Amino acid sequence: MSRVYITTPLYYVNADPHLGSAYTMIITDTLARYYRAQGRETFYLTGTDEHGDKIAQAATEAGMETKAFTDKVSAAFREAWDRCGFSYDYFIRTTDASHIRYVQEILTRVHQAGDIYFDRYGGLYCFGCERFYTPKELRNGKCPDHLTEPKLIEEENYFFRMSKYQERLLRHIKDHPDFVRPEGFRNEVAAMLSEPVGDLCISRPKSRLTWGIEIPFDPRYVTYVWFDALINYVSALKTKGEEFFQKFWPEAEHFIGKDIVKPHGVFWPTMLIAAGLPLYKHLNVHGFWTREGQKMSKSLGNIISPLEMKEKIGMDAFRYFVLRESVFGQDADFREENLTARYNADLANNLGNLVSRVLAMQQRYFDGVVQPLAGPWAAEDRQLKATFVQAESEVEKQMAELQFHRALEAIWAALDATNRYVVETAPYTLIKDSGKAARVGEILHHLLEVVRMLSIHLAPFLPETSVKLRELLNISAGAPLDAPWGSFFTPGHKINPPVALFPRIETEKKPAPA
Ligand code: MSP
Repeated sequence: MSRVYITTPLYYVNADPHLGSAYTMIITDTLARYYRAQGRETFYLTGTDEHGDKIAQAATEAGMETKAFTDKVSAAFREAWDRCGFSYDYFIRTTDASHIRYVQEILTRVHQAGDIYFDRYGGLYCFGCERFYTPKELRNGKCPDHLTEPKLIEEENYFFRMSKYQERLLRHIKDHPDFVRPEGFRNEVAAMLSEPVGDLCISRPKSRLTWGIEIPFDPRYVTYVWFDALINYVSALKTKGEEFFQKFWPEAEHFIGKDIVKPHGVFWPTMLIAAGLPLYKHLNVHGFWTREGQKMSKSLGNIISPLEMKEKIGMDAFRYFVLRESVFGQDADFREENLTARYNADLANNLGNLVSRVLAMQQRYFDGVVQPLAGPWAAEDRQLKATFVQAESEVEKQMAELQFHRALEAIWAALDATNRYVVETAPYTLIKDSGKAARVGEILHHLLEVVRMLSIHLAPFLPETSVKLRELLNISAGAPLDAPWGSFFTPGHKINPPVALFPRIETEKKPAPA
C-alpha cells in the first residue's frame, strides 16, 4: 500500500496560532484527508518548537518558569488545532524526553564520526534569529528579519561540518529536480549551495542560554535550537519504533513557509547525510499571507486568528477561502471583501442553494423518499455523471501538483454544470404535468447523487460540510459511500429536509445613485 508522511513546521511557543500557522495546517490537513480517502497509509505530524532564547525570553516576560510556560502555550496550540478540527496523527514537543534523547543520540553519532568540531569563533549574532550572520547576508548592516544590528560575539562553540556535504546535496537537487518545490524555491536552495555555505554553529554556551538540549559530550553547552527542532521529523517516527520509521521516512513530505527554506533546504539535508539517514522526499514551500496588503504583526494588531474566523464564518468557509484564494508557493493577501464575495458567491449561492433546492424539491414532491431510476438514462443524466467523473480526475491531477485552488475550481465547475442541469431539466415545471412525476423522480435521484458525490469530493477540503451533507442524505456510517452512481439509494430511502449550510453574509448596500 502506498504511504505518505506529512509534516508541518513546529510552531514556536512565543506566539498564538495565526493565519500563517493555520494556513500550513489547512493545506496539510486537506492533503492528509485526501490521501487517507484514497486509501494511502498516512502519518501526519505537527507540534511545537520550545527551546532557545526567544522562548526563554517570552517566559520571562510572562513571569513564568520556562517549562511551565511552554507547557501552557504548547497545550494552547494543541487545543486550538483540535478546535479547528485538524486531523494530525501525532503532536510532538521538542521538550519531550524521547525527542531530547534522540537529538543527543544524533549529536553523539555525528560527533563520533568527526563531523562536529570545537572552535573559537567571532561573528555577528542576531539574538532575534538566534544565529550568526555573514556580512553578506545582512541588509544595510542589519538583520533582514528583525531590522536590528547584530552584535559581535566571540566565543568557543561546536560546529557541524555542513560544508563537507554541500556538493553532495547540490548533486541530489540536480538529480531530483522536485526535491524542493515549487521550482522557484528549488532555485533558491541551489543558489545557496552554489556559494560556500560554511559550517554551522550548533551549540550555545550555558553562560548565556540554558534553555536547550544539553550537548551530550560537553555539559557546558546546549544545542542550537534549529539543530534540535529539525530532528523532530525523525524523532517523532522513532517514538513509534524502528519499523514505523523505516516505513514512513522515505515518504516524508515537509511543508513549510518560505522564511524557513534555508534550515530545511540546507541545514536539515546535510544533517541527515552526516547522521547516515536517507533524505526526505520533498520540501514543499508555501508563500506568505498579508492582510489587506500589509504584513501581519502583533504590533499592528492585524493578526487573523483561526479560532475567531471559525466563530465568525465557520471553519469550512475559512478553509475554503484560504485554499481557493491562494496559489501554493505564492504570496496571498487576505481581504475581508474578497472573503465575503467568495463566501456569498461560491458557498452560499452556488453550493448552499443547490443543495437546499434539491432537498426541498425532494421533500415537497416525494415526501423525501428517493425515487427509482427505472428506464434508460437520458443524455443529460449521463452527461451530469460524466461531469463528476471528470471533476474527480481533475482533482486528482491538481492535488498531485498541490494546486488546491485548481482542485476546488474543478469541483465548482461541476457544481455549475449541475445548476445548468437543474435549469435545463426544470423539475419544478415538469412536476406540474401529472404524467411526468416519474421523470421528476429520476432527475432528483441524479441530483441527490450529485450531493453524495459532493460529500465525497469536498471531504478533504470542507470536512464539516461533507458530514452535514451525509446527514442530510440520511446516510448511515457504514453505508457503501463509493457505490456506483445510481445504485446507492435503496428503495424507500428517505432523505432529510434542507438546512441553510452557508447563510448569506449581508453586506452593507451602497446607496443607489441619485
Ligand atoms: N519553529 C520554527 C520552525 C521549526 S520546524 C523544525 C518556526 N516557527 S514559526 O512559528 O515561526 O513559524 C511556523 C510556520 O508559520 C512557518 O512555516 C512560517 O513560514 C509560517 N508563517 C508565519 N507567518 C506566516 C504568514 N504570514 N504567512 C504564511 N505563513 C507564515 O519558524
